[in-house]
Amino acid sequence: MTKQLWRSAGFLGLGILFIACASPGARNPANEIVVEPALKYFTYKGGQPTSVQTVTPQQWAGHKWHENRRFDLLLKIHAANTRAESNSGLRHAACFDGDGHDIIESFFFTDENKQVQPAIGFLQNQMMRTAVSTDGLMIGVGFKVNKDNQSKPYYFRLPNCNAGKSPIGAVAPVAELSEDEALESTQAISTTTATGVAAQEQKVRPTGFDLDDKDQAQPSLNLPQFRLRADYEKADRFDKSLPWRDWKLKLDVRNENDALVLALILQKYFYDSMANQDSRNPDRNFIAENNRQRYWCHMPWMQVGPQGRESIHGLTKELDLKPSPTMDLFKTAVKGTDWGVAYYNYPGCKTILNAFGSVTQPKPNPDFSKVDFNDGTVSAKILFTTAEFDSIKDAYVWQANTVQPGETKRHIMPMRHIQMDIALRDSTIKGMKPELNNWAMFTYYFDPNYDYDREHRPLLRRANPLKSIPNLPPQFLKMRPMGIQTGFGKPETGDTILFAGAQTNGLEGRLNGPADNPKSSCLSCHGAAGVSSKIMPMVPGTLDNQAWRDLPGRIDFSQQMALAKRNIETWLQMQPQ
Ligand code: HEC
Repeated sequence: MTKQLWRSAGFLGLGILFIACASPGARNPANEIVVEPALKYFTYKGGQPTSVQTVTPQQWAGHKWHENRRFDLLLKIHAANTRAESNSGLRHAACFDGDGHDIIESFFFTDENKQVQPAIGFLQNQMMRTAVSTDGLMIGVGFKVNKDNQSKPYYFRLPNCNAGKSPIGAVAPVAELSEDEALESTQAISTTTATGVAAQEQKVRPTGFDLDDKDQAQPSLNLPQFRLRADYEKADRFDKSLPWRDWKLKLDVRNENDALVLALILQKYFYDSMANQDSRNPDRNFIAENNRQRYWCHMPWMQVGPQGRESIHGLTKELDLKPSPTMDLFKTAVKGTDWGVAYYNYPGCKTILNAFGSVTQPKPNPDFSKVDFNDGTVSAKILFTTAEFDSIKDAYVWQANTVQPGETKRHIMPMRHIQMDIALRDSTIKGMKPELNNWAMFTYYFDPNYDYDREHRPLLRRANPLKSIPNLPPQFLKMRPMGIQTGFGKPETGDTILFAGAQTNGLEGRLNGPADNPKSSCLSCHGAAGVSSKIMPMVPGTLDNQAWRDLPGRIDFSQQMALAKRNIETWLQMQPQ
């Protein structure tokens, strides 16, 4: 699709269709994907986006938009990104299409006199401060507003609509407001957001190691308070053995049985002293600092924005749950939001230390040039959903401070554990691909019918390693290993191996979990970490082993590191200078 076609398609009234498909756009001769820059503002009812206001640079500068209307839209976007509700109490969200650099150039251009063009109402001295993450997937905007004899600083981050795990507004059908309708609704919303919201923003510089979210404490539930484990310099003081490296095993990931053994060893490696910390209170398990055996840490800089870490378990918001097209157990999934929290083992935590420093000594200017995860890095992520349906009724339950689809305010509710993801980088294992930095991805999903002794024991001729973990809550014995992914190719190439009895949710049979976007796969999406969406969107992401090596800006398969980097690069002092 060419740029011209985008415009004429919109003109013909087919714009809605394109939003619904979240089309990545066309490629120009330089092999960049061209998506027209636009600001978008969504409102939701009943969990579905009901309307979207799309503003193109031409409209923004056009005759219908005078400076007070530009100010109104800016405040709506600000409110949508600071967790306030819209004036009418609806959930709302804002994002942009295209590349962040183009958004700044065409909406918030600052001329040589430091004046923003076109002009924006109530803006102190017409000054604005802006930042763009290197991957172009997030912008930061700061300004001061002079209104009612008061001067207030404002600041917001705005993500690309398709970055991260939960694309914004990518649910069909959405009614595209005409420009006149949008302008009316703009006026209706602006009056209350103009005051009030700014107050939340006047805080001291965030370090990226603290938590923004607060819950309504419910003492009867005996819930923990999430604490980011970020004393990375202590990582070396704990057990450093990496049990899958046992010389007797000689595992080769091209062999299905070996890959299954590796999946089970990793599952046990993470559950040890983690899943069994408190056999009576499920909420008191997986607390990194209570693990006296192994060191596990968290990624900093993931606390910000409406998707940021929640207060009880540190969960961040992921893609909303949808019925899986390919997995029988999840075909009947009902609507819910999905949330996850990830942990890195000690070699990974030392890589994080190199980039960010630690909680006691944060680096003022984090350094991502050397992000290359240490050999032996493991990252494990446990995923929970607010959805309740028959197949998952017996899954492990946490209480967490989250939202149902379409809700604005977080509150404490039960969440069911449906998926666990593990990423491993290890050059000592046979069959790993050095050209892909020796990464392998594994996933596990709740399956009430999974029975190790019946399905895997006859093949492997060994007892389930998980059985040796004392006081392991029984639901974890139902977390079925799905398979392994060691490359971007289709399963025929051997890059994905599915274990007997498992089904995947990935593109053309590649490895992917029930909570993941079925148009991508684990490695495909993670291979795009750090890369501009102009070159490689996360969905479908990388589908070719050769092509990955040439991707500029890539961050060694860590999507959390890519997100943390984006959040840092778009942090701005509140006061325009
Ligand atoms: C469409 C993109 C996408 C797909 C598909 C995907 N992930 Fe992720 N993954 C992300 C993003 C974005 C994050 C960071 C956000 C967060 O943790 O909340 C993440 C975080 C993780 C983490 C935490 C550490 C890290 O590397 O960032 C692990 C481990 C992980 N994913 C493994 C997997 C596995 C295994 C699969 C397949 C079963 C998978 N992912 C599929 C996008 C994806």
